[in-house]
Amino acid sequence: MSNIAYIPGDGIGEEVTRQGLKVLNYFNDKHDLGLKFEKFDLGAERYLRTGEIMPDGVLNKLETFDAIYLGAVGDPRVEPGLLEKGILLKLRFYFDQYINLRPIKLYKEEFSPLKGKGVKDINFTVVRENTEGIYAGIGGFLKKDTPDEVATQEMISTRKGVDRIIKYAFDYAQKYGRKPKLTVCDKSNVLTYAHNLWQRAFKEMGENYPDVAKEHYLVDAITMKMVRNPEIFDVIVTCNIFGDIITDLGAEIQGGMGMAVSGNINPDSISMFEPVHGSAPDIAGQNIANPLAAVLAAAMMLQQLDYPDLAQKTEAAVVDALSKNMITGDIGGDLSTDEVGDYLVQSIKTNE
Ligand code: NAI
Ligand code: MG
Repeated sequence: MSNIAYIPGDGIGEEVTRQGLKVLNYFNDKHDLGLKFEKFDLGAERYLRTGEIMPDGVLNKLETFDAIYLGAVGDPRVEPGLLEKGILLKLRFYFDQYINLRPIKLYKEEFSPLKGKGVKDINFTVVRENTEGIYAGIGGFLKKDTPDEVATQEMISTRKGVDRIIKYAFDYAQKYGRKPKLTVCDKSNVLTYAHNLWQRAFKEMGENYPDVAKEHYLVDAITMKMVRNPEIFDVIVTCNIFGDIITDLGAEIQGGMGMAVSGNINPDSISMFEPVHGSAPDIAGQNIANPLAAVLAAAMMLQQLDYPDLAQKTEAAVVDALSKNMITGDIGGDLSTDEVGDYLVQSIKTNE
């Protein structure tokens, strides 16, 4: 029994998440999961109609849910960043979703941009700290708009914040890791305060996980390794800004944004699952958007809601669709968004 808040959002958000819902609804009926969905009208349309971005009443209501399934927000008719800040970041901070979980998994050999590296090599997870670091929003200007202007942006690492993300990453590696190994990625040779704290926290927490191998890479070195030897990684834990950057590199080596999924997680509160791509206004409304990332986001939500076998079946259906080329034009197929969703449900049905 879980209550899922469904926020389709803007542009292709509705088109792609509708395919995820097809899969979820199929499982719900077939296995009597008792999932209940409620749709929330948030995004550009509501803002343009009423001026509201995220009314307090909606936030309070969302508190009663178990998870959020989100498409994407952002619309060319609205000032850039307004909806992203007002909805995505708002939810992330309100529910203290301190974990950003980003699987970097190649699902089809041909999508690999790396020579000689395939499905068995590109398969790891980045655990990104999602609430502090240099994105905490602390800083200011002095003498703004003068030749003597000074701007500062402070990097915040709290011991509690670092401990909890590192603990999650160790637990994750222990539970799902293939080796299992946890790599900490930082810049401790230069950020001698903030990332010295990371180093100590990693070392101390690691003592509780004797069965998890430990490794350290500086962020610049890790970008090279991700390209040259992605197979060495299992789980990587890193700070907010480095996580932002290396997960984009990760999205490319896993076959592009069309395959990239993100979970904004707080295990004790409400987590939010979404495709990494945006609302793609350039192709919205044409039923050609690739729904695989949105469907994989639904799989990640199933995993979080403790249905690992259903998550696995969903992933298997995606792999099947890719192998039979039952996919959209952006990744080399010729199906519509809706046809891909229908195929995925069919594939799950025949393999169950
Ligand atoms: P975007 O990811 O929406 O699109 C970039 C390019 O990739 C476009 O050419 C688009 O057509 C293509 N694309 C994206 N998703 C696709 C899919 N599923 N299938 C096929 N093609 C796909 O990024 P862009 O254009 O920078 O941003 C558009 C809007 O989305 C902006 O308002 C932006 O702020 C917002 N945005 C929202 C995000 C979110 O809700 N999490 C994340 C990124 C951007
Ligand atoms: Mg980014």
